[in-house]
Amino acid sequence: MRRIPEETIDAIRNQADIVDVVSHYVQLKKQGRNYIGLCPFHGEKTPSFSVSAEKQIFHCFGCGKGGNVFRFLMEHDNLTFVEAVQKVAEMTHMDIELPEIQSQSDAPVTKESSETHQMIEMHQLTAKLYHYLLMETEEGSAALAYLKERGMSEEMMTAFQIGFAPNHHATISSFLEKRGMELELAVTAGLLTKRESGEIVDRFRGRIMFPITNDRGQLVGFSGRLYEQRDGPKYLNSPETPIFNKRKLLYHFSEGRQAIRKKEEILLLEGFMDVITATEADLENGIASMGTSLTEEHIELIRRITNRAVICYDGDNAGIEAAFKAGTLIQDRSRMEVFVVQLPGGKDPDEFIKANGADKFREIYQHERMSWTAFTLQFLRRGKNLQNETEQLQYLDEAVTVIARLGQAVEREIYLKQLAEEFSLSMETLKEELQSAVRKVQHAKKASARLGAERNVPVDDPFMGMLPPEIPFSGMDFGSESSAMVQAPLQFHKPAQKLEAHTFSEQQLMKAMLESRDAFAQIQQLLGDLSFYHDDFQALFTYLISFYLEDHDADIQRFMDFLPDDQTSLKNLVASLEMMDAPDEQGLHEYQAYILSLKKFKLENKIKQLEQDQHTHIRNQENEQALKVTAEILLLRKKLASHDYDLEE
Ligand code: CTP
Ligand code: MN
Repeated sequence: MRRIPEETIDAIRNQADIVDVVSHYVQLKKQGRNYIGLCPFHGEKTPSFSVSAEKQIFHCFGCGKGGNVFRFLMEHDNLTFVEAVQKVAEMTHMDIELPEIQSQSDAPVTKESSETHQMIEMHQLTAKLYHYLLMETEEGSAALAYLKERGMSEEMMTAFQIGFAPNHHATISSFLEKRGMELELAVTAGLLTKRESGEIVDRFRGRIMFPITNDRGQLVGFSGRLYEQRDGPKYLNSPETPIFNKRKLLYHFSEGRQAIRKKEEILLLEGFMDVITATEADLENGIASMGTSLTEEHIELIRRITNRAVICYDGDNAGIEAAFKAGTLIQDRSRMEVFVVQLPGGKDPDEFIKANGADKFREIYQHERMSWTAFTLQFLRRGKNLQNETEQLQYLDEAVTVIARLGQAVEREIYLKQLAEEFSLSMETLKEELQSAVRKVQHAKKASARLGAERNVPVDDPFMGMLPPEIPFSGMDFGSESSAMVQAPLQFHKPAQKLEAHTFSEQQLMKAMLESRDAFAQIQQLLGDLSFYHDDFQALFTYLISFYLEDHDADIQRFMDFLPDDQTSLKNLVASLEMMDAPDEQGLHEYQAYILSLKKFKLENKIKQLEQDQHTHIRNQENEQALKVTAEILLLRKKLASHDYDLEE
């Protein structure tokens, strides 16, 4: 299946920088020799995902996933190996002749079901047709005129692949049918609808079409806007389908990702037109949800690539309410910093830019954004008559509570001063109020932390994927010497874990063998018939033997790709071993010591097993066997005592 020559893969792998590639999807921060960030593969609030530029691998100490740059894309974007190689080549702008893998007859074997692929392909074909109909045909001319009238440039129409769905019931159905597509599947995909009569017709008719991609840039749906006076909703979206889920979709998220990362902030807008107009105004970090309010899933996507959100919703009441709701959820669910831009005159960004120009909008966006606290304080005044004493007191109470939540003393001081001035109160009085509010907030925080601790057991097990789960980290007694615990070679923020000696030994041996062919040869010889205690290590060892048999030099990167695609836990293991620090100089002497500890562990296990047998025999009054086993136990105990750990199997 791998039709890309190995040299080409090597070249791409060498050219690519994993930090660069991962940065497209995860906000990384330099920490020591590595980069860390929030793991894109499991939900977490403190970063356990780390990327090593030096070793060109990633590894998550939380969920145990790890591998090289190809592995990352395979996992993240659900790609096959070949697709991942191609994507890396594209991302690193390498001029390399790669086999065409999109051809119909020789379609790639992807993990994604072929139905999903077909549905996406249908959307791509349909979007092309809609776009053509808008830009080039008489039928689309009225829709085109409408867009131009609204000030949309052809450049934007092309960039956003805006299209036109004619007011017929069989434009897309016959188009897809001619191309041999399954119409029932197009119904499932939401492009067509089935009437009660069983007739299959176009879902979108007489509308301007906005194609919608998911966070991986795949075309998964449409929204269609009416452009002339007609009955029906202004916007009609694709229905919920296996590939279209509004809770997870953000318009222009995938396309805007680069700009969001570069600007280090995301611009949250309400409508498609706002996103397009903002882009035209050189603000390419704008996104919008699909006519629903912002969801937890949206925030999950966003917080992985940026720490700051600027909300710029419509300037009307509904927009302000929605901004408060969205900002509150973001604050609850992430550590993002939130700002709010309020546009004067109740306009939405699109209308505002059309009326006042892009410069004016950028000016407000940059310099008149409100901090979340300032916005909240303003929001709390809405609908209150502050001349009325009761309402004024209520407001002050709410405001002081908001201020009490602020992390920095300076911040608290600034907002308190504003309140003091506005309501002619002394700072002393307000500070007293603040003190009691702070106590209340802390109390509430503690209570919710307790609740949280009860509810979710942390899944952060730094050794997940590394050790078979049935092996406890401590509590086994193997005699005074071997129960000596060794400090686990994990740095970072994780609490120090103790490792058992035999586990530590297996890790060190395996790491040495991965990193050096000479070490491999030495250790293989020392091991003889001895197998690794952990199955994963034994499996890895077996693969390593055949890897080196193919006359490869030690090369972690290549070895990762040498491991079969479905051996993900082994790949994870390799990455986790690579992320460990090894004692500086290791050689034959250390290897011997490690192997000795493995043998000792085996011997001790053997004795334990025999002791169990002994008990059974005694219980069953099988005297002869009991005696035999006892003799054997005595012999092995003697071996153990004289440090002769070799077992004859
Ligand atoms: N929306 C929707 N269904 C509707 C109305 C609105 O899904 N019936 C969504 C669309 O995503 C739309 C967003 O809500 O972009 C904001 O709605 P609105 O402010 O009414 O539309 P605008 O984006 O301002 O569109 P236009 O300027 O073309 O009226
Ligand atoms: Mn609008």
